[in-house]
Amino acid sequence: MSILATFRLDGARALVTGASRGIGRATALALAEAGAHVGLSARDEEALTGLAREITALGREAVVLPDDLRDPEAAARVVDAATSALGGLDLLVHNAGGPQTDAEGHMVLRPVVETSDDDWRQVIDLNLLAAVRLCRAAHPYLRESDRASVLLMSSVAALVAVPGMESYGAVKNGLLSYVRSLAVAWAEDGIRVNAVCPGWVRTWLTQPLHGNAPVAQAALANVPMRRWGVPEDVVGPCVFLCSPAASFVTGQYLAPDGGMTAYPAMPRSGPSEEDPRD
Ligand SMILES: NC(=O)c1ccc[n+]([C@@H]2O[C@H](COP(=O)([O-])OP(=O)(O)OC[C@H]3O[C@@H](n4cnc5c(N)ncnc54)[C@H](OP(=O)(O)O)[C@@H]3O)[C@@H](O)[C@H]2O)c1
Repeated sequence: MSILATFRLDGARALVTGASRGIGRATALALAEAGAHVGLSARDEEALTGLAREITALGREAVVLPDDLRDPEAAARVVDAATSALGGLDLLVHNAGGPQTDAEGHMVLRPVVETSDDDWRQVIDLNLLAAVRLCRAAHPYLRESDRASVLLMSSVAALVAVPGMESYGAVKNGLLSYVRSLAVAWAEDGIRVNAVCPGWVRTWLTQPLHGNAPVAQAALANVPMRRWGVPEDVVGPCVFLCSPAASFVTGQYLAPDGGMTAYPAMPRSGPSEEDPRD
């Protein structure tokens, strides 16, 4: 197989959560472009139906699976519906998630002492518990696949301090621990498990930040590439981790973050003569 062919996903059966907009929508489309048939999960049925039309125009199958993943029964419903429509499952991408949001789905920053147990539960339920439930429901199908891969959407918030979003950082970090344990537990079933940790990406979720010019600019202070990411910046790592090109990669994360987690950096001019570490 040529190296470029190893990045293809022809005929793979994928389920992507949070596919109605943002990073999940771009990922579902990218998987389809790479050759996968895709089950599309989120609450907004109309948005999913629009995406399904784009995917079928590419010559792939698309199944619309509207549900609320905070409902404890939803993960099993979505996995069962996806597998019966697609005839099995090779790729599970749990991307639905985020920090605490307002009624519109925009992120909310709040001092940790002002957060309630319910605020924390909102974040735990969608990011972590839904991941656990989806993986549990998908395991019997993934075990039958000869190219099974699970991808969980974490965040740089798992890797750096995020004051005002402590629940988000803690839960996204918990996802990385879950990825490592699951990767080891499921290796003998032939199921790879990895994560992606995006930096600041311009989406509906982050609109309160990138929609406010001074805040948007301030957010870039720790981003060496000095720009916001777009969903398309995240899909390459997602397709790679799902593909045969990553056939020996499991228990890992990739961080498309414009260099954010490479900080703190040495001064660009290099170390000074007085630096005792020289
Ligand atoms: N944007 C960033 O800067 C950034 C950075 C790092 C990590 N991430 C992570 O990337 C993922 C996607 O974020 P995004 O920025 O693309 O956000 P977004 O544009 O707000 O998309 C979130 C997706 O999750 C779905 N969703 C929300 N609540 C749901 C629920 N209860 N049940 C089912 N689906 C639900 C939404 O669809 P419906 O509303 O239709 O249900 C939507 O499709 C999240 O896990 C986030 O933590 C984002």
